[in-house]
Amino acid sequence: IKAIGVLTSGGDCAGLNAAIRAVTYRAAVGFGWKVLGIEQGTAGLMQRPVQARALTTDLFDGALLRSGGTLLGTTNKGNPFAFPRSDGTVEDRSNEVIEGYRSLGLDALIAIGGDGSQAIIRKLAQQGGIDLVCIPKTIDNDIGATEVSIGYDTAVQVASDALDKLQPTAASHSRIMILEVMGRDAGHIALASGIAGGADIILIPEIPYSIDHVVQKIEALRQSGRNFALIVVAEACPGPDGKVVAREGRYGGVGHALGEALEKRVDAELRVTVLGHLQRGGQPSPRDRLMATVFGTHAVDLVASGRFDRTVVWRNRQVDDVPIEEAIATYANVAVDGPLVRAARALGVSFGDAVP
Ligand code: F6P
Repeated sequence: IKAIGVLTSGGDCAGLNAAIRAVTYRAAVGFGWKVLGIEQGTAGLMQRPVQARALTTDLFDGALLRSGGTLLGTTNKGNPFAFPRSDGTVEDRSNEVIEGYRSLGLDALIAIGGDGSQAIIRKLAQQGGIDLVCIPKTIDNDIGATEVSIGYDTAVQVASDALDKLQPTAASHSRIMILEVMGRDAGHIALASGIAGGADIILIPEIPYSIDHVVQKIEALRQSGRNFALIVVAEACPGPDGKVVAREGRYGGVGHALGEALEKRVDAELRVTVLGHLQRGGQPSPRDRLMATVFGTHAVDLVASGRFDRTVVWRNRQVDDVPIEEAIATYANVAVDGPLVRAARALGVSFGDAVP
């Protein structure tokens, strides 16, 4: 091996720069390889000239470890197998991506992405004979093969921090505060931040809720003398009428739908906050920097030992790796009777279901 490429793909999150840094250090210092950063994910390989630049360790001396975003850029709209044309149709441009990759003269590729990106890049790797290793990132933490993916911890921190800020103003004004958080189809961010941030009601897509139970919980809080309530709702939850409101965090939706329905049912002022992309940006938490560093170095070690078609994972307090196919097949949403849900219920948190 003389040279490797690294790219970020899919939605950004905090910790990507720390992962790129770790890959660059381990490859350049540990093995003396050249490292090329491919820009804008696979879209950079589609362009001519190919969008890539040399990465050297001195680039990372300053702020990048602690900065959000990805210095390489990324996109989540560029599936090369169904690339959008301007007229709204799609075309297969996978061969252009593979040719672009080949033109760089690389010996292996490290792709940092969620399950969707990993599936696409693996297909490209199989089609083009590319030696590939993946690193999991997603604030949604829905890749079941790994206990944690890069970006999740920071997103939970941002959402918990939002609850820390909402609680005093809720108490000062005797208000109900609804916080809508991301997570795509999973409730991990809502559950973790709701527990850490002391929410009274946590609504996640994995546990169907009814507005009646939410109202009952608010009334029970009232009767116990509480003048405020904190509600966290995951973006994929349906509205109070059971219909899907909005998906994938673009505009927010269920928080407002819930607010409108609740306002008619409870005698209290209510405000809605949609946290949105604040959960993706910002400084990576120490835990995300740590995971990114361990994942990045392990990915390079996999390349060095010729172990390709693998995704780096974290489990049982260890870094490990599994076939990419396995990583993308292990979608994990919240276990409805798992330890976090049980602990929350023990503390009186309502999930808006029939359990009191
Ligand atoms: O998958 C990460 C995520 O942030 C989801 O939580 C959210 O639904 C979606 O991406 C938002 O995507 P976009 O960047 O297209 O707004």
